[in-house]
Amino acid sequence: MFAVHLMAFYFTKLKEDQIKKVDRFLYHMRLSDETLLDIMARFQVEMEKGLAKDTNPTASVKMLPTFVRAIPDGSENGEFLALDLGGSKFRVLKVQVSAEGKRSVQMESQFYPTPNEITRGNGSELFEYVADCLADFMKTKELMHKKLPLGFTFSFPCRQTKLEEGVLLSWTKKFKARGVQDTDVVSRLTQAVKKHKDMDVDILALVNDTVGTMMTCAYDDPYCEVGVIIGTGTNACYMEDMSNIDLVEGDEGRMCINTEWGAFGDDGALEDIRTEFDRELDLGSLNPGKQLFEKMISGLYLGELVRLILLKMAKTGLLFGGQKSSALHTKGKIETQHVAAMERYKEGLANTREILVDLGLEPSEADCIAVQHVCTIVSFRSANLCAAALAAILTRLRENKRLTRLRTTVGMDGTLYKIHPQYPKRLHKVVRKLVPNCDVRFLLSESGSTKGAAMVTAVASRVQAQRKQIDEVLALFRLTLEQLVGVQDRMRAELEFGLKKKTHPLATVKMLPTYVCGMPDGTEKGKFLALDLGGTNFRVLLVKIRSGRRSVRMYNKIFAIPLEIMQGTGEELFDHIVQCIADFLEYMGLKGARLPLGFTFSFPCRQASIDKGTLIGWTKGFKATDCEGEDVVDMLREAIKRRNEFDLDIVAVVNDTVGTMMTCGYEDPNCEIGLIAGTGSNMCYMEEMRNIELVEGDEGKMCINTEWGGFGDNGCLDDIRTQYDKEVDEGSLNPGKQRYEKMTSGMYLGEIVRQILIGLTKQGLLFRGQISERLRTRGIFETKFLSQIESDRLALLQVRRILQQLGLDSTCEDSIVVKEVCGVVSRRAAQLCGAGLAAIVEKRREDQGLERLRITVGVDGTLYKLHPHFSRILQETVKELAPRCEVTFMLSEDGSGKGAALITAVAKRLQQPRKEN
Ligand code: BG6
Ligand code: BG6
Ligand code: GLC
Ligand code: GLC
Repeated sequence: MFAVHLMAFYFTKLKEDQIKKVDRFLYHMRLSDETLLDIMARFQVEMEKGLAKDTNPTASVKMLPTFVRAIPDGSENGEFLALDLGGSKFRVLKVQVSAEGKRSVQMESQFYPTPNEITRGNGSELFEYVADCLADFMKTKELMHKKLPLGFTFSFPCRQTKLEEGVLLSWTKKFKARGVQDTDVVSRLTQAVKKHKDMDVDILALVNDTVGTMMTCAYDDPYCEVGVIIGTGTNACYMEDMSNIDLVEGDEGRMCINTEWGAFGDDGALEDIRTEFDRELDLGSLNPGKQLFEKMISGLYLGELVRLILLKMAKTGLLFGGQKSSALHTKGKIETQHVAAMERYKEGLANTREILVDLGLEPSEADCIAVQHVCTIVSFRSANLCAAALAAILTRLRENKRLTRLRTTVGMDGTLYKIHPQYPKRLHKVVRKLVPNCDVRFLLSESGSTKGAAMVTAVASRVQAQRKQIDEVLALFRLTLEQLVGVQDRMRAELEFGLKKKTHPLATVKMLPTYVCGMPDGTEKGKFLALDLGGTNFRVLLVKIRSGRRSVRMYNKIFAIPLEIMQGTGEELFDHIVQCIADFLEYMGLKGARLPLGFTFSFPCRQASIDKGTLIGWTKGFKATDCEGEDVVDMLREAIKRRNEFDLDIVAVVNDTVGTMMTCGYEDPNCEIGLIAGTGSNMCYMEEMRNIELVEGDEGKMCINTEWGGFGDNGCLDDIRTQYDKEVDEGSLNPGKQRYEKMTSGMYLGEIVRQILIGLTKQGLLFRGQISERLRTRGIFETKFLSQIESDRLALLQVRRILQQLGLDSTCEDSIVVKEVCGVVSRRAAQLCGAGLAAIVEKRREDQGLERLRITVGVDGTLYKLHPHFSRILQETVKELAPRCEVTFMLSEDGSGKGAALITAVAKRLQQPRKEN
């Protein structure tokens, strides 16, 4: 018993001593956590350098765009050929990817040798050899008669400008064939294949092994967005935001970047980490000075590093009693598989002895322990370095996504990672320590990188096919100039119809006289109340106009109108309005004052005078009963009476377009048009009295509220209305009405977008084909969301975030499509609006017999104000369709309430002399 304890003690002591000895000797190879964090930070900088256009040429980490933009979604199918060249083994494969609802991939493969004469000989011969192997494979598999797409896994750094092309930057690892560097390896292989007259293959994709690995793993786990190889060489790829990739045009979506991290340190960035052994190893390699990071990590070099260390230790008498063997002096005698064997948990020590004896050495127990520990330090350093670089990538992914925690999967491959007993465990542990805010799953690619390469090839053809379907839908919304001119012409005709007595009753554009005949002249003054009902907000205002100085002071309060009131009874609605007025008067300390009031009421009203307006029909979101056909001024008066608390002098009822025109006209007398692009869409303008057949008199001008929202209600726009427009119409409060408004205004654009998204989802082109409850919900895309989504400054992930806020769980690819859909819908809206406006300015120009017309349009509405592109496209369209009109757009900063007050003031002034008379 005692002897056993003594033995154990002796052994423990021996082990401790040896370990201490090696630790001391290799202390420079043991990297502390701080050092790893430091390396991680350095690698982050390297990535930035590689991605940016101006620093890329001199960057050592090349960050190569791969033109792989999407991970597999399970819908890939087809039969593919694949080549896998550059790892420890060369393979030719046939990959059958079948869809039909189940994810299954069948592969048949054949290994072929790659002797040094081939890998380090003449480049053309290398490709001819590859083509020969391919031909051989196709013959044995009886594929010669088929034309198959081929995915080419080529595990060397290539600069790609498209998926099916790649210029070799430099050979790495064991390859050094002449005359290949700086040439496109795809065309080289194509040329070689062409020599086989009986073979017909189409190389669709060139894929690095890291990319293939990522794709292989992503097929099983959609969270996989990183691929790492720790094999003969080492490298990693990951999905980067396009907006960060300077070298490729476009900001949408993501693209896989092949980092080529093996070259990290080639510019001297790791000199403080490298040891004398690393330098010695490098000098004896095929590519001195290159791939310095790789040389500290990967399988081709680990054994050699161990050998160099053991040799040095033997030389200094620290091992084998100073004895060396010729094998120990021979390059390449220790391989990675030996290192792995020596580090095996149980048999490790015995393996070590055996391996050392095979090298012609006579190791003692102590030597074996020491050598085993050397292996541990070298392979641990390798895992540590990989972990640091991988941690940098993970951090980058997390930051790109602006997440506090990242959940992600890393696809892994490579013999070192696969055969070394300790390696994966160590790597995982260190990564988790370095990036505690990432939940990382490491997924081993069981079937190599070619499954993924076939997937890339399949994805490319899927994306192509789906793109075509999406484009077909979007094309319905892209209007040609001819179509826009058509809209302009029809609008022009409708305007004339509405003005003429005979055609007026049937006209869809109602051209309502407003009895507003003049612009403010600056002499108006006094205190007025104003109501502003019908836009996004209901406001009550107090407007103080001072004469002479054209200065106006306003006080206002926004009140909510609950949905049940908007769609309840008329009495309830007007009682609610009066309640709000009472609150406002109280709030302003004006209780009991009998002020003149201007009522902005943004719905179509037939007027017989400035203070009478019969509601023709509700539009937008209102549908209170017992109002249509009634005079809204009377209804307001009655509600005031019912309340019996105060009295008001209702002087004018004004459409919001008219109020807007007046607001702007107060500053710019040339403003003779008012435009609203908001919840609804409408326009008013100053028309010659002689053209207004519905009102007596030919002198001067009167403002006409066109109510152009009703344009198209007679079917005259049916050729451009899509099924989506029809669906929106059918789901609205006023089916069949306001068709133009429903294609151009804020209340409906989001609904059109929603209908398109539903359609695309049904076709399986979005949201993985799943229509969520949220997407079924009416009104989720308010104007403000559309405006945010379309903002140019937004990264795709922010778009995705907005969609997520809206309850739509979208991928990045989905987000691109959603943004595009928003884009075509709002663009069409702006163009249609522009065509309408072009009709009116042209009419004014012609009516006045002018060669050129200068006119100002006062504009208001959330769509115009908030949307990042609407106003620009609208203006461009007007310019294009009405080239002889110089149209100035003036944004109404103060809303239409100010204009309503001005109209009230003018009306009051005109009333005065009448009363005096
Ligand atoms: C294989 C992949 O599984 O791993 C190859 O199919 C890859 O594409 C290789 O190059 C990397 O490992 P190693 O150890 O063979 O270089
Ligand atoms: C406001 C005006 O600024 O804009 C309202 O004061 C008008 O009268 C409104 O109805 C239109 O825009 P939206 O987007 O609120 O409907
Ligand atoms: C080398 C190659 C790289 C490859 C890696 C792993 O680093 O340059 O392209 O991915 O080895 O095989
Ligand atoms: C609707 C109304 C119209 C109003 C417009 C803008 O089209 O019918 O009167 O001007 O919306 O608010």
